Amino acid sequence: MSITKNVKWSKKDLLSIYDLTAEEINIILDTAEEFKKVSQRNVKKVPALRGKTVVNFFIEPSTRTRMSFELAEQRLSADIINISASTSSLKKGETLLDTVRNIEALQADLIVMRHSAPGAQSFIAKHVSAGILNAGDGAHSHPTQALLDIFTIREKKGSLKGLNVSIIGDIVHSRVARSNIWGLLKLGANVTVAGPSTLVPREFEKIGVRVCHNREAALEGADVVNLLRIQHERQRGGFFPSIGEYSRFFGLNADAAKYLNPDALIMHPGPINRGVELDSSLADGPQSVILEQVTNGLAVRMAVLFLVAGCLEK
Ligand code: CP
Repeated sequence: MSITKNVKWSKKDLLSIYDLTAEEINIILDTAEEFKKVSQRNVKKVPALRGKTVVNFFIEPSTRTRMSFELAEQRLSADIINISASTSSLKKGETLLDTVRNIEALQADLIVMRHSAPGAQSFIAKHVSAGILNAGDGAHSHPTQALLDIFTIREKKGSLKGLNVSIIGDIVHSRVARSNIWGLLKLGANVTVAGPSTLVPREFEKIGVRVCHNREAALEGADVVNLLRIQHERQRGGFFPSIGEYSRFFGLNADAAKYLNPDALIMHPGPINRGVELDSSLADGPQSVILEQVTNGLAVRMAVLFLVAGCLEK
């Protein structure tokens, strides 16, 4: 394996895709390609983070991201501590910063953090010397999700440049959408966002994204479609008349999928609400790369842990 300490990587934290250059995104993707090979070997472990302590601090629910980060840390031979909101002293009124300072007092090297408040990880990163990896902050940012989505597209299509990528769903409440948009634009893709006007404001046009309130128009000629669920937990309701109506006009079913390019990829970050934003026949069909996204997430998270840890040593 040809993974060496990357001299070009200089960030102690991974907070958002917006902060990364196209070159930095490509460094992560190239490194992830090497780590993907590790998971295909008999012995799926390397000593890259031996002697390092990583704390997974999740103050919002997660299945995929948490599992993927923890397995990535195990594959890199790190020592791991898991903390969740329900079992931490946050419940007793301790501030977030005090909790993190206590984590750091135990010489944690890296903290992987998910929080419902946008900017929580950026705030913490300014106050501690441990590397902070953002595992999702409210509706703001989910950099490793976007990186694994982009990795999957690059692996299947060769390059992002000039590809038509449509993201359909609850764009306004989605950190996945925001992170994907920045990453895709930086790598030269044409990005369309679509959904009801209440969930897909025209403001996205200001950053070079095509905004569409018609499903068929968004699907026509798309090389990739990424379906997002309705984020009920971040809504106060009233954004569309009913789930049934949303599904009828914006869900991806076999009829609507005929508008896609024949070799288009069907993606979803999970969790899927089957029959709402995506029919099961397509989620489990030949164009779906949804479980490959999960597999690639492991390689991407190994890559970012490795790069950030290497930066802390310099
Ligand atoms: N895609 C994603 O972030 O899933 P989890 O919320 O399960 O981590």
